[in-house]
Amino acid sequence: MCGIIGYAGKKVAAKVLINSLRRLEYRGYDSAGIAVLQDGSINFSKKAGKLHVLTDELKRFPLEGNIGAGHVRWATHGVPNEVNAHPHLDCTGKIAVVHNGIIENYQALKTMLIKEGHKFVSDTDTEVIPHLIEKYYKGYLLEAVRQAVKLLKGSYAICCLHASDRKRMVGARCDSPLIIGAGKNENFFASDAPAILDYTKNVIFLNNYEIAEISKNTIKIININGKTLSRKPTRIKWNISQAEKSGFKHFMLKEIFEQSNVVGDILKERLKNNKIHFEELAIKEKVFKGIKNMAIVACGTAYHAALTGKYMLEDLAEIPVWVDTSSEFRYRKPIVGKNTLVILISQSGETADTLHALREAKKRKAKTLAVCNVLGSSIAREADGVIYTHAGPEIAVASTKAYTAQLAILYLLTIYIGRIRGVISGKTKKKLLKEFKKIPRLLKLTLNDFKSNKNKIAEYAKNFRKYYLEKHNKSTFLYLARNINYPNALEGALKLKEISYITAEGYPAGEMKHGPIALIDENPWVVCIATKAKIYEKMLSNIQEIKARGGIIIAIATKGDKEIASQNVNYVVKVPEISELFSPILVAIPLQLLAYYVAREFGYDIDQPRNLAKSVTVE
Ligand code: AGP
Repeated sequence: MCGIIGYAGKKVAAKVLINSLRRLEYRGYDSAGIAVLQDGSINFSKKAGKLHVLTDELKRFPLEGNIGAGHVRWATHGVPNEVNAHPHLDCTGKIAVVHNGIIENYQALKTMLIKEGHKFVSDTDTEVIPHLIEKYYKGYLLEAVRQAVKLLKGSYAICCLHASDRKRMVGARCDSPLIIGAGKNENFFASDAPAILDYTKNVIFLNNYEIAEISKNTIKIININGKTLSRKPTRIKWNISQAEKSGFKHFMLKEIFEQSNVVGDILKERLKNNKIHFEELAIKEKVFKGIKNMAIVACGTAYHAALTGKYMLEDLAEIPVWVDTSSEFRYRKPIVGKNTLVILISQSGETADTLHALREAKKRKAKTLAVCNVLGSSIAREADGVIYTHAGPEIAVASTKAYTAQLAILYLLTIYIGRIRGVISGKTKKKLLKEFKKIPRLLKLTLNDFKSNKNKIAEYAKNFRKYYLEKHNKSTFLYLARNINYPNALEGALKLKEISYITAEGYPAGEMKHGPIALIDENPWVVCIATKAKIYEKMLSNIQEIKARGGIIIAIATKGDKEIASQNVNYVVKVPEISELFSPILVAIPLQLLAYYVAREFGYDIDQPRNLAKSVTVE
């Protein structure tokens, strides 16, 4: 949901800003803009469309200056055109602001400012901010921003420039992420770490209601009352190659192929002498002993990981678990209290719905545990405890490696909690970990089977497109599975919808007969997850029911399964054998690749699908 960047240093600011915006583009890509301080005035350039439109413009009309701010937009208020693109300026043209978030009281502020004589040019909520700063500016930008943000309701991360201050810029945040990058003779503001990895790995995470001023050599942070705060930078482990495509055509494909290493690294980091380590967890063992039930709350793909977690935790740790989407949890009266552990799963750690669900859970006195990928993110910091997935930066909008990393952490957490609660014996733990340790190798094998075309999923995607066109664009997808792979059916459908714009639904296969079977004729393609399982035979019956009604089936089966061949399905992909409990991690791969190849067949922008943004920091 919009990415912002600020730079103060010795380099040509425009170049640094564009380079960083490239890494932020996954957060929003309907328009982009930069503003720089040059010879005592603000010069800016903004364009509707993707970032390359702006970079082309800057080639024709370059901007000089060593201090500036940039923005990539995901429109909320006002259509994505040039006027609504950021930066936004005040009446004098001396103040420029870029903003990520939503100012909920902007209408009231705008009315007040118009009465006071301010002139507005855009339809955005953001534009009230430069005008408010103008109202309070008495020669000191930091103080004017402090006064201005006191009036804002909603969420914001902002970077502000003033033409009269050639050396400094100011940033502030509330409920939208903003970090400071502390470099050598240069400092930054950024929405997230990958934006500044080319320049520094030392970051300071700003908290809500904090305001900061940076110049090339100084960083000053104050709170909303004007008190100066001292904050040390944290060194982040991510490296720049993780934020690059490294020869892959798309980030999504690269991230899919990273998954064996991601899970391997999780095991290396978390398992020492068969003991599970969650160093950063900060929740005492006795808390896990005392809890009576658990809720897992998340959105999108993370929600699907949460659903899988329910199967693991109820099965192995024998504790009642319910799962909710964050947007539902926060607006009803969830029955949680001091005996409940609420787990919030979020790749970005900034998803507004999940952040608010976390606050709701805390208000109700529940213990909260975040499972996040992004270090220092809001959810990670506000929860009572955190476990990082350490999957490295995930750039593609469609989440892949973060999902399998979340699953891996949930397996370990389940075993950890089960042990503490005395329901998993030492022997069972050993057995489970032995099985789990096979996964990185089996993931590699699975990925290699697709790479070497042993599993011909790219060909199936090609066939689907042909079929889709023959059927006058009418074909759809249905994903069916049972038990612990049911959430994977939802995830497969979500992946396809997100990047291929094809209607897809996920269902527990047993529910078919209660409605969805009415959809089956020769039209939908049905992905049946039919890996070896307790109720494998029931899945085979579902396959026959679909066949009998003319559906086209892609079965995901276990290597060595002879029975599937006799089912007469149209296509089969095989994954290596593993116990049913751990199979979701392997099954996720063909689902992700199917979505990827279908989108590629249709020629869609895979890493930046329409209408979406990576990190959903608005409600
Ligand atoms: C998944 O492919 C999505 N783009 C989306 O559903 C995502 O999982 C969701 O918005 C939650 O994000 P989070 O994990 O950063 O909280």
